Amino acid sequence: MEQKKEQFGSKIGFILAAAGSAVGLGNIWRFPYLAARDGGGVFLLVYIVFALTFGFSLLVTEIAIGRKTGRTVITAYKTVKKPFAPLGILAALVPVIIVPYYCVIGGWVLKYLVSYATGHGSEAAMADGSYFTGFIGAVKEPTIFFIVFVLLTAVSVLLGVQKGIERVSKIMMPALLVIIIALAVYTLTLDGAMDGLKYYVLPDFSKVTPKMLLKTAVDAMGQLFYSTSLAMGIMVTYGSYMRKEDSIEKSARQIGIFDTLVAVIAGMIIVPAVFVFSGGDADAINAGPSLMFITMPSIFETIPGGHIIGAAFFVLVALAALTSSISLMETVASIISEKFNIGRKISSLITLVVILTIGMLSVLGYSIWDTVTVFGYQFLDFFDFISNNIMMPVVAFFTCILVSCFAKIKFIEDEVLIGEDKFKSKKLYLVMITAVAPVCMLLILFSPLIMKYIG
Ligand code: PHE
Repeated sequence: MEQKKEQFGSKIGFILAAAGSAVGLGNIWRFPYLAARDGGGVFLLVYIVFALTFGFSLLVTEIAIGRKTGRTVITAYKTVKKPFAPLGILAALVPVIIVPYYCVIGGWVLKYLVSYATGHGSEAAMADGSYFTGFIGAVKEPTIFFIVFVLLTAVSVLLGVQKGIERVSKIMMPALLVIIIALAVYTLTLDGAMDGLKYYVLPDFSKVTPKMLLKTAVDAMGQLFYSTSLAMGIMVTYGSYMRKEDSIEKSARQIGIFDTLVAVIAGMIIVPAVFVFSGGDADAINAGPSLMFITMPSIFETIPGGHIIGAAFFVLVALAALTSSISLMETVASIISEKFNIGRKISSLITLVVILTIGMLSVLGYSIWDTVTVFGYQFLDFFDFISNNIMMPVVAFFTCILVSCFAKIKFIEDEVLIGEDKFKSKKLYLVMITAVAPVCMLLILFSPLIMKYIG
């Protein structure tokens, strides 16, 4: 199949686009609520250690496989070793599951953006969180915002790799960083914020039981996949667009550090804010997916002119979410186009229909279908769970096996070395890919059993 491959125009273009995929709701919405729930400092420490070690190693692996094979995920693994074809299919299915519910949450962000832009910010700040629950409990509004978000994503995908993603990321990434740093500094000046900061940065192992530690580790690893867009073919696809003259190792390091930085700073706003507004009340700390939508408006309420800042914040989060959903949809569309040999426009349209259909389950799961559960989960939580805790660890596990036992490390090393004189983190990489990462993946997969066993 002859297909002209688009490429990123510059090194910074690749990094920004990959960072644009990585930095998104995972950093600003998902990371802080997991950190708040999973013991604050313990979660933070575990996450950072994972990010610097096997997060980095998996990132190198995926980018290298993508660039070497020049394929999207569905055929990349097969090109490396024939029997690994199903791995490509499984990896390709992950974005299909994530992108619909991702767009649902993207829709929530748009709703808050509109609320702030139209002067309804104060309503969003109601202390009991009823603005949020009222909104997601309805049918019409969440559906409309979901559809708008999906359409924004689809248009960007149709505009193409360089024009769409590179351009948006170049402006948005620095702006996002500036606003979250400013908000973090501001939040830390509020009364009571220091207790929150302590909870967030100082690991308190005295209260940690083995079971809690396992849960924290499992959540941190799931979050690492999610946040770095790993184990779902996205970085493989992006790697296939990367130029040979750019350094894989450096890019992986920069993407990983930037992604972690944004998450850590977002947590530095949201976790202390929970302490400021609720005095560290357990219910508030465990609020889960609603946390950002309840604490951020409370912060904006305390700032003079806070509604303008609120609007700016939600614009940037919406953009960050959009660059991520673009990468998700782009991957799904390119897979469909490659698999069925059809053009980009048609494959994008098919993707659009799939997203709208599956996404509606998550939208309605909070309203008319709120009593429907799948294995005890609401639709959105179910999609989140099977992708993060089951499919991604399986994909990551077999990727490690593929590299360490079949393709051999040299396969990755050769690609990493193109244009470079040294594979600097080779030792770390070897240990991670051949031993630590596979064991950790098994740990995630069997954690429900282990937890039962340790009571
Ligand atoms: N990594 C993105 C984030 O942190 C989300 C994402 C998940 C993007 C999966 C692509 C794939 O929000």
